[in-house]
Amino acid sequence: MNQNSRDGFSSRFGVFAAVIGSAVGLGNIWRFPYMAGENGGAAFLIIYFAFILIIGIPAMLSEFIIGRRGQSDSYGSFKQLVPKKPWYLVGLMGILAAFVILTFYSTITGWTLEYVVLAVKDVFSSTAAIQDPKQVFEHFHTQAARPLIWQLTTITIAALVVLFGVRKGIEGSAKILMPMLCVFLVILAVKSLTLPGSVEGMKFLFKPDFSKLNSSVLLAALGQAVFSLSVATGVLITYGSYIKKEVNMSRTAFSVSIADTFLAVLAGIAIFPAVYSFGMQPDQGPGLVFVVLPGIFQQMTGGVYFALLFFILVAVAGITSIISLLEAVVAPLVERFKLKRIVATSIAAGLACALGAFTTLSFGPLKHVKLFNKSLFDVSDFFASNILLPLGAFFLLVFLGWFYDIKQTKDELSNQGRLKLQLFPVFVFIIRFIAPTGILLVFLKGLGVFSFFG
Ligand code: PHE
Repeated sequence: MNQNSRDGFSSRFGVFAAVIGSAVGLGNIWRFPYMAGENGGAAFLIIYFAFILIIGIPAMLSEFIIGRRGQSDSYGSFKQLVPKKPWYLVGLMGILAAFVILTFYSTITGWTLEYVVLAVKDVFSSTAAIQDPKQVFEHFHTQAARPLIWQLTTITIAALVVLFGVRKGIEGSAKILMPMLCVFLVILAVKSLTLPGSVEGMKFLFKPDFSKLNSSVLLAALGQAVFSLSVATGVLITYGSYIKKEVNMSRTAFSVSIADTFLAVLAGIAIFPAVYSFGMQPDQGPGLVFVVLPGIFQQMTGGVYFALLFFILVAVAGITSIISLLEAVVAPLVERFKLKRIVATSIAAGLACALGAFTTLSFGPLKHVKLFNKSLFDVSDFFASNILLPLGAFFLLVFLGWFYDIKQTKDELSNQGRLKLQLFPVFVFIIRFIAPTGILLVFLKGLGVFSFFG
């Protein structure tokens, strides 16, 4: 397709902002801190960072290459590159993953909107009649109506942005929201660090305890690394197709991944020193953000303002990621079925709301519905993050490493020979051997496939 007829990102910064908008999300601010909290703090961090380097960055770059070469969505790009082979199934798997993530991700993002409202209502200020944050959370997230309304709101906001298109909607909103998010996070981190006794929190985050590491922690770290970089969901292939031919994609992938990791750690710095300073426990799981932090805001001077900053921050992080997930589903509908953007967006958003309702209700009225002994929420999360994403990343690396003409890859990555690629052999070695082997080992071991070997 003619490059000019496709909507796309306007500049290098535009690409950076949009991809960061996708990558930085609940994964960084809600999930990463509680996973690190449960799995040994710094030990988890080290493993996580290793996965970002050897799997996340190469996989992100591979997707950019596939997308920009294919000039289409995640299904169409594979079709374009290898028309006669079934590799498009990997693209479809990505779209499925995006859809599944959309359903449960919008649940939590919806909760953050409720918390923005609670903060505005002064529930977290020390002057208000103190309410037990645990009860507030229990009461709210087990209901039916409110969480559903917030989920609907979240998806609608994202859909409105997607409607405006790639440059005006996605890029335009990210360029405003992402710098804002960074400023908020820095303010919160500084506040947390200057609380008395914050050193313990920093120790927790940066002093490794390797005794907590085991194969399921490794799988969780791998799942989190790919999840956090939005790998294997069709998002990066789709976004790759919007990147102009003159942008240096290696640089983009590298800087986005480092920034994403940095922001996750910064979220940890905003959270753990405060947690320790107020004598709370770091390993409270998913409730860390919705129970432990509100408890802290209640006791902090000016807590209500920090609460407001914090929950706006998480909501923004969540919504910008939902925008990308939605785009990954909308793009193939537009390109394959020649639907108008508004029709495609309405279909994708409508389906996400309909199915997402089950995940949202799995905390309340559908609490007793279990699949594989897990709630619907946990099943969707596990299925997407620990199965679809690692497998998707594996296949796309193997595709580019072994089944696609390496000369074409080099041509795309070097902008048709204009960029010098000193590290190209390293990249090829990683996508051929290191990354796929790493994923397989961690994946199979994590699922207990060869646990009988000890
Ligand atoms: N990367 C986002 C986060 O860390 C989540 C996400 C996954 C977004 C996959 C898009 C695609 O929260």
